[in-house]
Amino acid sequence: MSNKTFYITTPIYYPSDKLHIGHSYTTVAADAMARFKRLTGYDVWFLTGTDEHGQKIQRSAENAGKSNQRFVDDIVDWIKELWSALDISYDDFIRTTESRHKEAVQEVFNRLYRQGDIYRGRYEGWYCTPCESFWTARQVEGGNCPDCGRPVELVAEEGYFFRMSRYADRLLEHINNNPDFIQPPSRKNEMVNNFLRPGLEDLCVSRTTFKWGVPVPFDREHVIYVWLDALSNYITALGYTREETLFHKYWPADVHLIGKEIVRFHTIYWPIFLMALGLPLPKQVFGHGWLIMKEGKMSKSRGNVIDPMILMERYGSDSIRYFLLREIPFGADGVFNNESMLQRINTDLANDLGNLLSRTVTMIERFFSGVIPAPVVGEEHSSDKELRKLALSTPSRMAELMDKLQFSSALETLWALVRRSNKYIDENAPWLLAKKEEDRKRLGTVLYNLCESLRFISVLLLPFMPRTPMRIWSQLGIDTMQHLHQWDSLEKWGLLKPGVKAQRSADLFPRLDIKRELASLLEGEDGDKKEQKASFPGGEHTPVKEEKNNMEESFSKKGNGREQGSPEKTEFISLEEFSRVDIRVGEIISAEPVPKTEKLLKLMVSLGKEERQVVAGLALYYSPGELTGKKVLFVSNLQPVKIRGLLSEGMILAASSPEGKVVLTAVDDDIPAGSKIS
Ligand code: MSP
Repeated sequence: MSNKTFYITTPIYYPSDKLHIGHSYTTVAADAMARFKRLTGYDVWFLTGTDEHGQKIQRSAENAGKSNQRFVDDIVDWIKELWSALDISYDDFIRTTESRHKEAVQEVFNRLYRQGDIYRGRYEGWYCTPCESFWTARQVEGGNCPDCGRPVELVAEEGYFFRMSRYADRLLEHINNNPDFIQPPSRKNEMVNNFLRPGLEDLCVSRTTFKWGVPVPFDREHVIYVWLDALSNYITALGYTREETLFHKYWPADVHLIGKEIVRFHTIYWPIFLMALGLPLPKQVFGHGWLIMKEGKMSKSRGNVIDPMILMERYGSDSIRYFLLREIPFGADGVFNNESMLQRINTDLANDLGNLLSRTVTMIERFFSGVIPAPVVGEEHSSDKELRKLALSTPSRMAELMDKLQFSSALETLWALVRRSNKYIDENAPWLLAKKEEDRKRLGTVLYNLCESLRFISVLLLPFMPRTPMRIWSQLGIDTMQHLHQWDSLEKWGLLKPGVKAQRSADLFPRLDIKRELASLLEGEDGDKKEQKASFPGGEHTPVKEEKNNMEESFSKKGNGREQGSPEKTEFISLEEFSRVDIRVGEIISAEPVPKTEKLLKLMVSLGKEERQVVAGLALYYSPGELTGKKVLFVSNLQPVKIRGLLSEGMILAASSPEGKVVLTAVDDDIPAGSKIS
C-alpha cells in the first residue's frame, strides 16, 4: 500500500427527507476525487455519512408519526441505496447516532469543558431550526435567517458556551498564512470580512428544549449542539479518541468538500474546535456552488427537486455523473435543466465518445476481421504524432486540474483527446485506405492508434464514469488485461499488443430523442408513471442508427444521424441492426415483490445456461405465483441497469393495450429456455 495518503470527506447529510440531485452533486464530486487519487497511487480514505440529531430531524420524525430512530434508519437505508446506484466508493459511512460517534463526542465535550473552553451560562437569542444555527439580533434581517431566509425563533435557555474569541486571532493568522485553506478564494474573503473581523461571539454549544441529541455527559438536561456533534464526525469516524491507527494515518483531512452555505461552520467553528483540542487543521475546505433550478433554489417545499434515482434509471449512473461533473465549474452555482443534460449525453457521450468507439471497432471488424492490427514501426505521420503527444500529455494536465478540484476542466481536457481522435479518423479516412492494397499497412497503423487512444481515454474516464471503461475494454478485447487499465500504463504509447480480438457490441450511449425524453421526464413528475417506465429498462432509449449503404458515409459522418421524428412514424432498421438484439426464450423461475413499490417485481429468469435477475413493472397485472414457471421472450443483451438499487439484467417483452394493460408475450410450444429467437 502506498504511503501517500489522501483523506476526503463529504458533509454528513440530514436524513430528514430523501436526498436530491443537489446532495448527489457533492458526493459524486468527492467520489471522482477519491477515485482519481486511488488511480494515481494514493492510499485514500473517503468518508461520508448522516447527521441524524437535532430539532429538525425530531420534528420531521414527529410529522411522519415514527420514532426518531426508526425515521432516520429508513432514510439512511434509502441514502445508502442512492450512493450504491451512483457508484459512490466511500470507505466509511458514519452515522451520528452510532455509539462510536456519540461516545467520542462526549469525550470531546468533556475535554473542552475541563480545560475551560466551555463554560455554563444563559442563552437568549435567535435560532434557525432548518439551519440549526444561532444568530445575534444584529445578524437576523427582519426576523429571518441570513442564510436561508426563513423565520428564526427567539430562544432563551440555560446552556453551555464555547469561548470562540480565545482562538479568533490564531484562526485569522492561519487563514492568512494558508491561502489554500479556504477555497475558492471568494469564500475566504466572505468569512474574514463578515465574521472574523467584526469579532466572534461565544457560541452556545448545548440545547435543552428538545432531547434528540448526544447528552452532555455531566448534565443530562442538555444535549450537545448539533453542529459540534456533526463536525466531530470527521475525526470520530477515524477513531480519534481510541487507540486507532486510522486517525494517526489520515488526519488532517486533505479536503472537506461542502456546499457554500456551510462554509462558516467548517472554516470558523470547526478549526476553532480543533485548535482547542490541539489538533492540526484540515488542509483545505472547498465550498462549492449550488445546483439551482431556473426559478431558484431546489427545495421540497417548492416541489422542484430532481430525484437522481429517476434520472439514473433512464440514462444510467455514468451519464448523470458525467453531466454533474462536466456541466458546472466546481465552485460556481449552476442551473440544472433536463435539456442541457440530454444535450450533453447526446453530444459528448453518444456522438463524441460512443461514435469514436463504434467507428473504430466496426472498422477493425470490417477491414481486419476484428483483430487489432499492428502499426508500422518507425513511420509516424504528423497526425499520428499529434495524437500520441496529446494522449501522453493529457494525464498530467488532468492531474493538475483535479488537484484544484476543477472537474469540469479536467473532463474538457479529456474530451480534447476524444475529439482529436475523431478528427484523426476524418483526416486519415480509413475507408479510403481500405480501397487500395498498398495502403493496408497505413490502415493498420491508423486503426491501431485509435485503439491506443481509446485505451488512454478509458483509463482517464475511470474516476468520473466508473462503468464505461469496462465496456470500452470489452469491445477492444482488453477487459482482462489489467496492466492496461492502470495509471502507469499511460506513461507509454504502444503498450496495447496487436492481435487482440475486438468485438463490437451495444452502443455505449444510445442517442436520445430529446423532444420525446423531455416530454417523458415532464410526465414522469407524476410519481406513478415514473415507476411504470422504470420497470422496462432500456425501453425509453432509442438506440437506432440510420442505415448506411455506403461505406465511406457510414464511418465519416458525425453523429448517429437519427432524425428526431414523431414516435408514431415507422422508422426502418436494417436486418443487421435487428440481429444485434439478442432475444431468447426465458423461463421465470422465481418472482417476488420489490419492497416499498407497488408495481415492481424482482424475477429470476433462466436462459438455460445462465440465470438473470430482472426488475419488471408487472405486479399490477400478474401475481408472483402466476409468473413462476412461465416461458417468456427475453432481450438478453440490453445494458444492465439498477432499479431501486437492484440490478436488472435484461428485459421481458410484453404487449400493452391502449388502456395500459400489460400482457406477457407467450411462447407457443415447449421450447427450452435459452433458445434464440430470430
Ligand atoms: N448536516 C449538515 C452538514 C453537516 S457536515 C458536518 C447539512 N446537511 S444537508 O443535508 O442540508 O446538506 C448537505 C450538503 O448538501 C451541503 O453541502 C449542501 O450544500 C449540499 N446541497 C444541498 N442542496 C444542494 C444543491 N441544490 N446544490 C448543491 N449542493 C447542495 O448541511
